[in-house]
Amino acid sequence: MQKPKILVTGGAGYIGSHTALVLLEAGYEVVVLDSLINASRESLRRVQEIVGRELVFIEGDVRDRACLDRLFGDHDIYAVIHFAGLKAVGESVEQPLAYYDTNVGGSLTLCRAMHAAGVFRLVFSSSATVYGPDAPVPYRESMPRGRTSNPYGTSKSIVEQTLEDLVHADGRWSVSLLRYFNPIGAHPSGRLGEDPQGVPNNLLPFIAQVAVGRRQALTVFGNDYATEDGTCVRDYLHVMDLAEGHVGALNRLGQAGLHIYNLGAGKGLSVLQMVEAFERISLRPIPYHFAPRRDGDLAAFWADSQKAEQELGWRAKRGLDDMIADTWRWQRQNPHGYRSEINVKSQGTSKC
Ligand code: NAD
Ligand code: UFG
Repeated sequence: MQKPKILVTGGAGYIGSHTALVLLEAGYEVVVLDSLINASRESLRRVQEIVGRELVFIEGDVRDRACLDRLFGDHDIYAVIHFAGLKAVGESVEQPLAYYDTNVGGSLTLCRAMHAAGVFRLVFSSSATVYGPDAPVPYRESMPRGRTSNPYGTSKSIVEQTLEDLVHADGRWSVSLLRYFNPIGAHPSGRLGEDPQGVPNNLLPFIAQVAVGRRQALTVFGNDYATEDGTCVRDYLHVMDLAEGHVGALNRLGQAGLHIYNLGAGKGLSVLQMVEAFERISLRPIPYHFAPRRDGDLAAFWADSQKAEQELGWRAKRGLDDMIADTWRWQRQNPHGYRSEINVKSQGTSKC
C-alpha cells in the first residue's frame, strides 16, 4: 500500500534533508517547500540519488499564502513537518523582526493554509531552549516553558503556545512539538551534512572546519562554568536519529491533541570532551583557546527522553563515535559543503 504524502517545509536544510531521506526510505511521498535562504538544492538532489526515489521540490516561502494554497491544491497532503525557519541565535538579537516574521509569521500562515485545505496534522521543530535557564536537568516535557533569552528562543516559545491554543480551540488538530537538543553528525554516506553559511555558530561545524583546515582554531566560550572541566555541557544526538524521530512522531499524529517530546540522547558532554573525541577520531589536531562566556549560553542541559521511548518507540541509537565519524566524513569529502556543486540542476523542481 502506498504511504501518504508529507509536506516538509525547510526540507532542503540540515535536519530537513536528512528527514526527507528517511521519509522516502520509509516509503512516504515527499513534497519539500524551501526558499533556499539557508540551503542548496544540491542537498535534495543527493537525497534522491542516495534513496533512488524522487521527491517534489517547490522553491517558495512559507509566509507566502498563495504559494501554500496552490501547493495544498496540487497535492493531497496527509501531514506537515515544519522545519522552515531562521535559527541563528546571535542574528536573532540583531534582527528580531526577521525572526518573528519568519518563525512566528511563517508558522501562522502555514496553519491558516492547512486549515483552509483541511490538513490538521503538524509536526513542529521546537528546541530545548524553550525550557529556559531555571529548569532543572534533565529536562522533562512535564516542565513548563521558561523565560527565553533571545528572539530565536522566544519565537519557538510563541509558536509552541500558539499551537497549544489551536489544539485546545479545535479538536481536529493533532500537533507534535519536538524539542530538539543538539543535533550533529551527517548521513553515513558522507553525501549529506550540515553546510553553514559563513562562520559557523555551532560547535561541531566549527570544529570540523578547523580539522579540515578552513579555520585556524576553535574559540571555546567560557571555561569557568560549574561543570567538570569548566566548559558547557550539551546533549548531542545524531541527525539521523533525530530524522527517525520525525517518522515516529508522524505515526502518533493519528491521535488528535498536543504531543510534546524531547529528542535528545540523554547524556551531557562538555565542549572539551567533544574536542578530544574529534581529535581521536579524525586524527587531526584541533587547536583551541578560551574566551569569555557567550551571551545567553547555559552551563549544562540534557534531555530526559523516556516519553519518546515509551510513546514513539524512539531513542537515540547512534553513539558519540558515530556522530563524529559521520561529521568528519562529510566535512572531509565536502570541505566547502555543497558549494562546489551549487549549479547542478535538479529534477522535479518548480518555483512557487
Ligand atoms: P536549516 O537552516 O539548515 O534549515 C531551515 C530551512 O528552512 C533552510 O533550508 C532554509 O532555507 C529554510 N527556510 C528558512 N526560511 C524559510 C521561509 N521563510 N520559507 C521557506 N523556507 C525557509 O536549519 P536546521 O538546523 O535544519 O533546523 C531546522 C529547524 O529545526 C529550524 O526550525 C530550527 O529552528 C530547528 N532547530 C534546530 C536546531 C539545531 O541545532 N540545528 C535545534 C533546535 C531546533
Ligand atoms: N561553542 C564554543 N565555540 C564555538 C561554538 C560553540 O565554545 O565556536 C560552545 C557554546 O558556547 C556551547 C556549546 O559549544 O557551550 C554548544 O554550542 P552550540 O552553538 O553548538 O549549541 P547551543 O547549545 O548553543 O544551541 C543549540 C542550537 C539552538 C538551540 C539550542 C538548544 O543551535 O538552536 O541548541 O536546543 F536553541
